[in-house]
Amino acid sequence: MRLLVLGIHSGYGVKFLKAQTETILIVDDDRQIRRSLDATLRSWNYNCLQAENIAEAEQVFAAEEPGVVLLDIDLPDGSGLDFLTVIKERQPETIVVMITGNVDVKSTIAALRGGAHDFIGKPIRLEELRVTLRNGAETRKLRRRLNQVRREQSDKFSFQQIIGESAAIKKAVELARKVAASDINAVLLQGETGTGKDLFAQAIHYASERSGAPYLAINCAALPANLIESELFGHEKGAFTDAKARKEGLFEQADGGTLFLDEIGEMETALQAKLLRVLEEGMFRRVGGLKEIPLDARVIAASNRDLKKESAEGNFRLDLYYRLSVIQIDIPPLRARGDDVLLLANYYIKKTNAKRRGSKKLRGLAAPTAKIFSCYEWTGNVRELKNVIERASILEDGELVTTEHLPFDLTGGKAASPDSNGNSLFTLPPDGIPLVQVELDLSRQALERTSGNLTRAARLLHISRDQLRYRLNKSKDGEVLKAKTDLR
Ligand SMILES: Nc1ncnc2c1ncn2[C@@H]1O[C@H](COP(=O)(O)OP(=O)(O)OP(=O)(O)O)[C@@H](O)[C@H]1O
Ligand SMILES: [Mg+2]
Repeated sequence: MRLLVLGIHSGYGVKFLKAQTETILIVDDDRQIRRSLDATLRSWNYNCLQAENIAEAEQVFAAEEPGVVLLDIDLPDGSGLDFLTVIKERQPETIVVMITGNVDVKSTIAALRGGAHDFIGKPIRLEELRVTLRNGAETRKLRRRLNQVRREQSDKFSFQQIIGESAAIKKAVELARKVAASDINAVLLQGETGTGKDLFAQAIHYASERSGAPYLAINCAALPANLIESELFGHEKGAFTDAKARKEGLFEQADGGTLFLDEIGEMETALQAKLLRVLEEGMFRRVGGLKEIPLDARVIAASNRDLKKESAEGNFRLDLYYRLSVIQIDIPPLRARGDDVLLLANYYIKKTNAKRRGSKKLRGLAAPTAKIFSCYEWTGNVRELKNVIERASILEDGELVTTEHLPFDLTGGKAASPDSNGNSLFTLPPDGIPLVQVELDLSRQALERTSGNLTRAARLLHISRDQLRYRLNKSKDGEVLKAKTDLR
């Protein structure tokens, strides 16, 4: 039977709280102690279970999953310390309070290291027990909350959140997953603005064994060099005029976790040298300090500039580049990810729909919009795409994202040009094609995109309004097209 706790004693009297049960398992071979503890705990509205040895305790623990265990150390079939290990393996959130007749330092240390919440000596003083249990309940609540937050963070920043099916993005994700699983201590993420460097860094952290420790980030372009140095390394009291107290730096605070150094290309050369030393030696010193402190944080550096080129031109230390680029993840620009553009557009449409109250929902992209999306340059990459969808979701009255509500850049801006390998945007059919037909086809697309506005269509084709009109006048098909323009 489980008792419902309807009130707890507080300094201000009995407060009525939400119904709550807390089950306590008492493990002691002394029947007298078990009985009296049982009576006391029940009088405090706890639900009680008993076991007289480890074998029995294991069974009861597995069946009932009590939140708290009062555990004697000397038990007939073994040491309570061994059972403590079992409990912590199975249910790390459980609060275990050790009970012992003679307090010996060795077993106290062993128990605390093993994750025991507290120690209570025999004979048990009831007030001490009451306080210990109350603290235990609080600790357990906090632990649960912390674990929940951690789970939420891991979901939020997992690799699953990186949308994309293209070979280019899959290659980057695959490499990042390998990095997450490894113990490599420095990684370089390189990609244009908005390609997802932050997203990748967080995914690497939360997929790694470091996920329980902090993920900290600093933007090297945002602060002057001397401040960055003391942010990273920390400082001793009196190291410089403003150093009124000792301060731990990010290398220390991120202990066991991950430190994200964003815009590493902007870091001052002298500081780059210090960073290299930390990565090479795995040790650092606070500013003004003498003690060498070991580094146990993985450093993920990011840059939207080509650091190899920068170092060749003398703008970045070559030795640091070599150290960081042992593992370099190149995040491809959106324009190199093929249909991922459409996949991401639909992903953000769903996301904005979920945020939007009321009945106005977008269903997808209108066909001309999809065409524009597929050949647009996306210099702001995924961030730009996300913003375009958010804007459309506000402006669009219908169910589809039409070209009408796209920003000027997309409809009137520069079209994608042949790529750096010189590959053409268009393929000549095997039997050739009359040039005039190509002209007409592109003119038709330009007019469609601008809803028949001749001036804007001409701008898209990089010719004057008169030149476009002249071309349309040249053929019968062109005349038909012209009839649909704002000249009619
Ligand atoms: N593959 C992806 N799937 C889903 N969302 C993405 C993807 N890539 C980027 N994003 C989103 O795009 C936005 C920009 O990404 P992020 O901030 O990681 O880019 P960045 O490379 O760090 O840019 P910057 O160089 O400007 O700092 C964020 O909202 C991020 O969640
Ligand atoms: Mg970023």
